[in-house]
Amino acid sequence: ITPIKDALDFPVGVAIDSRETVGNPGKLTLKHFDQITPENHFKPEAWYDADRNFRPSSDAIALMDFARDNDLRVYGHTLLWYAQTPDWFFQDDAGNPLPADATGRAVLSQRLKDHINKVANWLATNYGKFGSATNPIVAFDVVNEVVADTPENPDGLRRSEYFRILGEDHIDLAFQYADQAFNVDHAASGVTRPVKLFINDYNSEQDGKQDRYHALVQRLLARNVPVDGVGHQMHLSMTTPISSLDGALDRFEDLPVVQAVTELDVTLATPITQAQTIDQGYFYRDAFKVFREHELFSATVWGINDTRSWRAEQAPLLFDGQLQAKPAYYGVADPEHLP
Ligand code: G3I
Repeated sequence: ITPIKDALDFPVGVAIDSRETVGNPGKLTLKHFDQITPENHFKPEAWYDADRNFRPSSDAIALMDFARDNDLRVYGHTLLWYAQTPDWFFQDDAGNPLPADATGRAVLSQRLKDHINKVANWLATNYGKFGSATNPIVAFDVVNEVVADTPENPDGLRRSEYFRILGEDHIDLAFQYADQAFNVDHAASGVTRPVKLFINDYNSEQDGKQDRYHALVQRLLARNVPVDGVGHQMHLSMTTPISSLDGALDRFEDLPVVQAVTELDVTLATPITQAQTIDQGYFYRDAFKVFREHELFSATVWGINDTRSWRAEQAPLLFDGQLQAKPAYYGVADPEHLP
């Protein structure tokens, strides 16, 4: 069967954990994809031991070595997230919540800066400067899921601990720290902006969320915050209108940013039938028809196969539990052979 990467004219990625770097999942990853996203191993809490010491996990090392040794690009995920972050980030020494005053702001912004610096420093020390031939990192989700799901606040932002203490500024700071670390301090000489800095969110294909997301990116750019890219997670279902995917990508084309599809999957209703699995193949075909019509930095599926998905029971991916190609694979790579 045709490698997916040979059927597309933009990089195609897959989210994996370290267990997918070996055996048949490893082979399937290398056959079909140009790029990987660490599904879990680069999340903030994954970098720390129980004593708050920064220590890259063996899983993070395995993923980076796999990418370096096989010439895969790495799309980093993620530096700032309201979830999967150590509780102590937001606490004082006594374990109480940091106050939302100048002291709290100073402590939390320093922790965020230290975190971003340590991640970038470790990656550059062990894999070479960013933009050099040996370093696989091409992009990073700097902030993940900062947009609110509902419209009640005029700023349209999620009420996270980061927001409570730092306000909207937490987003500006994350990008400024990441820019300094990835694109200045550890950049290979002569290479400009080797790591594209993304903001990433879900439901950007839905009207209200899309408005809040677009308004935020517009504000950030107006303040000269170094945002290079907008990520659309695209956790979809069979009832998502294909036109809404086009709408989401169209919407941001008025801004000076690149765009990526970052976490694509398409759930089926349960119990799953063969007819639905075939319909899903046509959905993927139509989605990628839209993606081909836009200039994408990359498009990434959120998992190598159905049993490894966070929504496994709804069979949302391109390969089945036995790693066999589903109609969804044919929809992406070889639509003429859809059943
Ligand atoms: O690795 C531990 C294991 O040691 C432990 O025994 C087990 C018990 O719960 O948990 C394992 O960790 C789980 C991890 O996935 C690895 O499998 C976590 O509990 C579980 O919460 C975690 O779920 C991930 C989830 O994000 C939360 O971080 C999913 O795999 C991952 O697909 C999902 O990805 C998110 C994106 O980062 C952001 N956008 C939405 C997307 C889907 O929720």
